Amino acid sequence: MNASTLLLIISATTALIVSVNLAVDPQNGLPKSEVMQLKGAVGPESIAFDRNGEGPYTGVGDGRILKWQGSYWDDFAVTSSQRKNCTRPFAPETEHVCGRPLGLQFDKKTGDLYIADAYLGLQVVGPKGGLATPLVQKFQGKPLIFTNDIDIDDHDDVIYFTDTSTKYQRRQYFTSLLSGDSTGRLMKYTKSTKEVTVLLGGLAFANGVALSKDHSFVLVVETSNSRILRYWLKGPYKGKHDTFAELPGFPDNISINSKGEFWVALQSFAQLLSISDSDLLGVHAAAMKLSEDGRVLEVLEDVEGKTLRSISEVHEKNGKLWIGSVVMPFLGVYRL
Ligand SMILES: *[C@@H]1O[C@H](CO)[C@@H](O)[C@H](O)[C@H]1NC(C)=O
Repeated sequence: MNASTLLLIISATTALIVSVNLAVDPQNGLPKSEVMQLKGAVGPESIAFDRNGEGPYTGVGDGRILKWQGSYWDDFAVTSSQRKNCTRPFAPETEHVCGRPLGLQFDKKTGDLYIADAYLGLQVVGPKGGLATPLVQKFQGKPLIFTNDIDIDDHDDVIYFTDTSTKYQRRQYFTSLLSGDSTGRLMKYTKSTKEVTVLLGGLAFANGVALSKDHSFVLVVETSNSRILRYWLKGPYKGKHDTFAELPGFPDNISINSKGEFWVALQSFAQLLSISDSDLLGVHAAAMKLSEDGRVLEVLEDVEGKTLRSISEVHEKNGKLWIGSVVMPFLGVYRL
């Protein structure tokens, strides 16, 4: 991608974000969020609660998965056994050794935690935590390069997950976005047979995954194309896909609430470039609620970036939005 294309993208994104800003009630933004500090850790990108409602659990930059115990964070699990030198909160150069857990999802039947580790593939750990076991690290003889997010279909014992790129690792995410790389994939792992298949290939930065409430489709976020695709699992369109929503910014993760609506975390270009000057795009963090058929129901954002500078995930639970980020040293909590 050359500089003028980049500028075009920035201005197009700004225009869209400005138009979304107009629809936002300034009294109803995200600055009211409280924060849950992490001690000695950064980048709580993912959020999961176990089948007893305990948590949240989150994966952080040094490779650990932490569990919130009500008043403090406890070490819960790791995806690598070689963690002797994994003490720095943020060290992208050692992520392939220490692990970088991204997507987390509990299996409601077994209580096991499934983990998408950006470098170490799909893994699983029992309800008591500890060292996780790798399940999928290769596909057709080639290593997975950037495993990102997962969702579980516990009726069918199937796991959907994304490999963001077959070329660029997580620490090269920005080059991947700029290069227009579209080697991402939506994949499926069948627990009983251990079989792995590709449902959709050629995706531009394949990111968050979320199953619909009735399990008739699975959504996959294509970050660099600013859109969400819907892959049909049942019904007349089974095996086909279409565009579920086009978004004003760069969508990251997606999650479902108890009503079957979806929360999408949006990043602006300034955040992707790690520009802290709020004037460039005039927006920092945004969370968008979409209906089961892709209509925008609600937009919450921290326009001035007062509390939250970047959002990678929004998870609705117990009347609150739990907000994760790849860069912040805390989780955000917003009362709905
Ligand atoms: C995405 O969101 C889901 C649902 O909240 C969560 O389980 C998962 O860990 C998140 N993944 C990432 C990569 O943050």
